[in-house]
Amino acid sequence: MTPNNGQYYPSYLQLEKILDSQHPLSFETGQSPAHDEMLFIIIHQSYELWFKQILFELEFVKKVFSKEKVDDNSEDLNLCRHRLKRVTKILELLNQQVTVLDTMTPLDFLEFRNLLTPASGFQSKQFRLIEATLGLKMEKRHQHDYYKRTNEGGFAQTDFNEINSVETSSTILQLVNQWLERMPFFDEKFWKGYTALYPSTQIHPFWNDYRSIYQNSLTEREQQKLAAFDEQFLGVVGGDSNNGNATFSDAAMRSALFIMLYRDFPVFQTSFQILDTLIEIDHWLAGWRHKHYVMVRRMIGMRVGTGNTSGAGYLEGAVQQHYIFKDLAALSTYLIERRKMPLLPDELIKALGFLS
Ligand code: HEM
Repeated sequence: MTPNNGQYYPSYLQLEKILDSQHPLSFETGQSPAHDEMLFIIIHQSYELWFKQILFELEFVKKVFSKEKVDDNSEDLNLCRHRLKRVTKILELLNQQVTVLDTMTPLDFLEFRNLLTPASGFQSKQFRLIEATLGLKMEKRHQHDYYKRTNEGGFAQTDFNEINSVETSSTILQLVNQWLERMPFFDEKFWKGYTALYPSTQIHPFWNDYRSIYQNSLTEREQQKLAAFDEQFLGVVGGDSNNGNATFSDAAMRSALFIMLYRDFPVFQTSFQILDTLIEIDHWLAGWRHKHYVMVRRMIGMRVGTGNTSGAGYLEGAVQQHYIFKDLAALSTYLIERRKMPLLPDELIKALGFLS
């Protein structure tokens, strides 16, 4: 019986279930109770609850970007921006949460560590689903053979199948790539009145000018960046810029750079913030990976993990390799000074709704 006819706080939140879900193995009969195992369980459960909320927000974003046409002026895009921003706030909190776990010392952990084997955070399906939904692919993962294990320390077959199916469906990275590719900024009709600054070539006059301005901004030591620019933005194949790992197409990269450059025009604000927030999500994820890696090194030194990877060595590699939106973060390499930016033609400005 609830004390009134409306909702009752404990039942609405199903606290009976949640608060009856902490059962330290070391508290079982015949074991020596390890005080810190309670913290270890609660902190993991809190992470998993927040992972659930992150996935909920990402599913919304995925749904919006899966539409054939994302209306830039609709509330959908603004909601995506808002909810992605929420994801960064949750990730920020998850970064801070490591400090609570840090109050457990390596000796405290050793009191119950062996009881966990072969369970490990490596098997967090929700964490993998976050990575996969954002766009991290199996073959891009550090030591990707680890992920294919469904034996000890690996995933249960059903979890493995679910992660795989999300990985092979459209990811946020792919959907954002398609959204950027569809942007019509460079249609010929908008550029008829454009006064080119440099003699025109085969390339679109804006990009021809931009390329020359960029080239002039490079120091002698940076000259090879021009080949990287050509590959990233103009789709020139076979340069030596080591850009074979590009995750966004050259057309998408052109739109993304254009949005970054002209973001002070109100019409670009939401799109800019979405791109910027994706970079921020990567930043917080990498921050968490690094904090977790440092904490693990302190906790178990160079011993192998309970999930049977090489432990800290594996985690360090994942920090370096698991950036998802690195192409977007790398856009800063290709910026030029504001005052040197080409002036946009009136037709484009009108079409984008800058002028009424
Ligand atoms: C005493 C505390 C902890 C230790 C010693 C520890 C240790 C490790 C180790 C060694 C790995 C590599 C896989 C393996 O061989 O086991 C790992 C992976 C992982 N752990 Fe922890 N961990 C701790 C706490 C946490 C917490 C609180 C979370 C929160 C959910 C977490 C989430 C993860 C995740 C998601 C991975 C996979 C990371 C990746 O593949 O990039 N761990 N952990």
